[in-house]
Parts: sequence; C-alpha cells; structure tokens
Amino acid sequence: MCGIVGYIGREDAAPILLKGLKKLEYRGYDSAGIAILGAGGLTVRKSRGGIKNLEEKIEAELANGTLAASIGIGHTRWATHGEPSDINAHPHTDLSGNIAVVHNGIIENYARLKAWLQKHGVVFRSETDTEAVAHLIDLHYNGDLLQAVMESLIRLEGSYALAVVSRDDPDRIIAVRKESPLVIGKGDGENFIASDVPALLEYTRDVYYLLDREIAVLYRDKVEFYDGDGRRIEKNIAHVDWDAGAAEKDGYEHFMIKEINEQPKALTSALRARIQADAGQDAQGGVPVKAVNLEEIGFDSSWAQANRVVITACGTAWHAAVIGKYAFERYSRISADVDIASEYRYRNPICNPQDIFIIISQSGETADTLAAMRMAKESGSRVIAITNVVGSTLAREADLVMYTWAGPEIAVASTKAFTTQLMCLYLIALQFGVLRGVLSGDELAKSIKALEEVSGQAEKILKDKETIQRFAARHFTKSKVFFMGRLFDYAVSLESALKLKEISYTHSEAFAAGELKHGPIALVDESTLVVAICTQTVLFEKMDSNIKEVKARGASTLVITYDDVNYFDQSADEIFRIPRLPDGLSPMLSIIPCQLYAYYCAVQRGLDPDKPRNLAKSVTVE
Ligand code: F6R
Repeated sequence: MCGIVGYIGREDAAPILLKGLKKLEYRGYDSAGIAILGAGGLTVRKSRGGIKNLEEKIEAELANGTLAASIGIGHTRWATHGEPSDINAHPHTDLSGNIAVVHNGIIENYARLKAWLQKHGVVFRSETDTEAVAHLIDLHYNGDLLQAVMESLIRLEGSYALAVVSRDDPDRIIAVRKESPLVIGKGDGENFIASDVPALLEYTRDVYYLLDREIAVLYRDKVEFYDGDGRRIEKNIAHVDWDAGAAEKDGYEHFMIKEINEQPKALTSALRARIQADAGQDAQGGVPVKAVNLEEIGFDSSWAQANRVVITACGTAWHAAVIGKYAFERYSRISADVDIASEYRYRNPICNPQDIFIIISQSGETADTLAAMRMAKESGSRVIAITNVVGSTLAREADLVMYTWAGPEIAVASTKAFTTQLMCLYLIALQFGVLRGVLSGDELAKSIKALEEVSGQAEKILKDKETIQRFAARHFTKSKVFFMGRLFDYAVSLESALKLKEISYTHSEAFAAGELKHGPIALVDESTLVVAICTQTVLFEKMDSNIKEVKARGASTLVITYDDVNYFDQSADEIFRIPRLPDGLSPMLSIIPCQLYAYYCAVQRGLDPDKPRNLAKSVTVE
C-alpha cells in the first residue's frame, strides 16, 4: 500500500512532493514524510496522520525557505510493520543521515536482515522493514549510490518500489521496483516518480513504466534505465491521455460520489468500439445485425475452445467475478469457476492448459491477484486480464488485456471500476456464446441492445439519487443491514454489503436469500434493515416470501426492483425502482442505489467516504 513520489528539476521540490502525495493519499494516509536535498544537505520531515498534518508541521519552514531544494522524495503510508507514528513514517535514513529511502511494499526477509545489520553495529530507530533498506544501502555505499542500491537489491526479498537519495550524490534519484507499482514521469528539465499516474498528470503525460527489478536513475535532464542485472537498457515512453481533471474532484464533495456519477460515461467507454454495428443482415434481410467485436483485444475463436473459465480476483473485483460466472453459464453454456485470489494461491487447484483464466483487478497491482495469475500461467492456461490501469503489472503479464476504460478511480471504495468490469465480462461471455454456437441471434440482439441502453439507464437512476439520500437519512443509524438476493442479485448483495461496511462502518452482511432460514434469520430483529434485490422475474415469488419472513421478525425492508414491477408493493416497506434490463444484465444498474446508500450513510455518520479507516486503495502486499 503506501504511495511514493520523487522530483528532480529546477523548481522547489517540497510543494511538488506534497501535491503528489495528496494525489496518492488514497493509497495510505496514516503518516507522511519528505526528504529533500538542499543547501543544508539532506533534510527529512515526517508526521503521523494525513498529508495535512505534515503540511502544517512544515508550514513555517516552507514559508521561510528553509526547505528550499530542487530534489526530493516523499511517502504517504499505510502501516504494515510498526504502528503509525512519526518515527515509523518514511523516509528512513541510515545512521549518519546521508541516505534517505521511501518504500512501498514489504521486505519479507527483514527480520533476518535486521539481525545481520545489528551484528554490524546498526541501531534501529523504527519498527519498519524499510529502515533496513537504508542501512543496507549505507553498508554497500562506496562512493557510488547506484552501485550501492544494486548490491543491496540482491539481498532484498519481497516486494518494493523504492526511491533513494543521498547527500553525497545530490543530483540524482535512484528508483527501482519489484511487484509494487512505480511510474517515471518525463518532463522538460525535470523528472518525476510516483506510485500512480494521477500524481504526475499536472506535470507530464509522458511516462515510463518500470518492469520488475528495473532501475531508473533520474537526473534533471535525462532518465537512465538498467535491467535487474545492471545492464543499461532503453525504454519506450508511453503517453497518458487522461485529462488532469479526471483525477480531480471537479466540484464534487468526494471522489466516491464523483465516481458513482461517472458511471454512465464509464459504461459507454467500456462498451465503445466493442460493438460492430453492421455485422450482417437479419434473416428477413434489410435490418443490420450487430455483433460483439473483441478483435481489438485479440480475442479470436481459439479462445472459445476452452473447457472451462476460471475467474479470479479480490474484493469488489471478486464480486464482479461471481457475476461473471453466472454470465458465462447463462450466455456461453461453459463451466465457470470463481475464486478469491488469496484463497486460490494457497490451494492446490486442478487446472489444465485448456482452461481460460479471467483475472480482474482495477489497479492491476493487487498482490494476491497477480500471484493467482502467475499460477494460472505456470499451469499452461491462457489469461485474459480485465483492468483499469494501462501499463499495470496485470496488463503487462496477461495474454490478453481488456481495459475497463473507467478513468482513474481514486476513492478507496470501488464503484465505476465494478460496473465497467461487469460490462467487460458480459461482452466476453456473449462473444464466447456466439463462438461456441450456443447463443441465439435473438438473445444476442436483445443483450447488445440492453448493453447499449445501460448508460442512459444509469443516468436515470443517478437523477433520482435524492430518494436514496433521504432513505439513508432515515436509516443510517441502523446497527445491522442485510442485503439479500439470489444468483445475480446475491452477487450484487455481496458488493452492496461490502460498500456499506467499508465506508460507513455499519455491520452489514449479504445472504443468498434461500439461505436465510438456514441460520441468518436468527439475527433479524427490529434493529435490522434488509435490502432485498429483486431483478430476476422467475425468482420474484421466492424473494417475496423471504421479504415477508424478515418483516415478520421486525426488520425494515427496502426492495430494489424494476420500474414496471408491482410484485412487492404489499410486502416491502419501501421500493426503489430501476429501469428494466434483461434479468441477467441488471447488476450494472441494481448496484448503483446500493453504492449511493453506502455513500450517503457514511456522510450522514460524519465520515469521509474517500478515506475509510484501515483501508487503502491498492493492496500491493499480502
Ligand atoms: C472495495 C475495494 C476492494 C478492491 C480490492 C481489489 O471497494 O475497492 O475490495 O476491489 O482490493 O482491488 P483491485 O481491483 O485493484 O485488484
């Protein structure tokens, strides 16, 4: 977790570092720090709490010029080793204060390294694994910082994105990554590093993505690259075409509500160019037939030879995967399994080269998800990545990449990434169905039409957000909230319960409605709100019984169903209606009121939905 930044150029480094850190605060916000190399040598300032605390701490020094420097590194932390504190905050230095290091990742052999360093007389000041790196570099330092970093890397196990500066080598920053993200921004007379692109957008769109173990040496006027064996390499520049506003709040109070509202646009982007308007004519002749076209991602008929699809992910992306499983079964009649990546990697799974893996990750950097992908590849299976981040590790290592094109997702709670992941999964499932000859022309046409309408329908739901806001105002104090549904609606319930618990700290659970009587109903009483998601017509009767069962135990009930359905008018206390879609596609819409409910509950509770406690956006460590 954690975010790192670095700057070398001709401007004042500290304000640039602070700005960059603010853009990365979603990655961690329990402490922050900077190290700058100025006339006074190496100066480190750090503070427990968010960037704001750090800013306040150094306000006077910034104003009086004490911190003037044109090179520096910075860090915003999500604690792994050692509690959040000033001492444990990064940057960490060696004993003489010559070398400063910021780190995102986990040094797994840190205990062994620490013991070894202690034998060499090193006295540790913090409880972090990162401090060992600073001492290690110092021990290897012989007048050449790059050489010292290279030699130290040989001893490091685990994951890292590191930036290193030294008082004795004041005109360059050394940066390296392994299994943690790092982007190099190329400017004019200035260069940058950051854990993620939004921190760079104000300054440059030209970036280099580092591969595992590659090293970048940043000077003011150039960047040099080395591979893991220390050989000079050339790297291609990539151009990022996000507009800077995409990573700003744009007048919204929080990133989360901005991103919820961006879903219509994001859904259009995920779909655009993947539907072919003139794929032939219908049987009667004359009417053009549309088709899914995934040539852009390299998806051809060879993929449809698969025996099985395995979908793997974590958190919200795993909830999308559950929906993906149902979609593959429904539209492609192929056996589909779904796995939580952190479970998958420690099982002894049975897979074979005929399986296709779909690995889903907004960030493309989640450690468990990447480990599952690598296992799949080792077993000889082919991998399709669904990710939002261009150039992410997942995108680079998968056989095919389908981008969600949702634009930067900054809020910790994932929203537009989820709905666009669904859009991608539906497109692949439909195309699988076509290539396997199991999807009728009618159903394909109906589904494509629905996919094309989803964006407008999402817009309609968002226009009615005050209804959910009022509902949240009445229910935000509820101590227990249960979401229930069946199949597709159960998967949406899982995602809804996660959204609510992670940002409003309300105890919330999701149940497959048929399981209610097998235990969960014992928890239902007058203090419970039950949200029933009912978008599958054949299951209305079953859901209606479940709603009556929880009502009879005193629960308040909200039903989410289609705008043309009156089935639940008698049983539900309140109904939120969404536009109709073919049943299996409804999750792209039914999740939206639940996202809004979670958001408004958090706001009602006086919490900051963008910064839920204990959480960070990218889980790049185990
Ligand atoms: C919840 C949330 C997390 C992520 C999970 C996977 O709102 O955002 O559960 O979905 O950490 O992250 P990615 O998709 O980046 O692999």
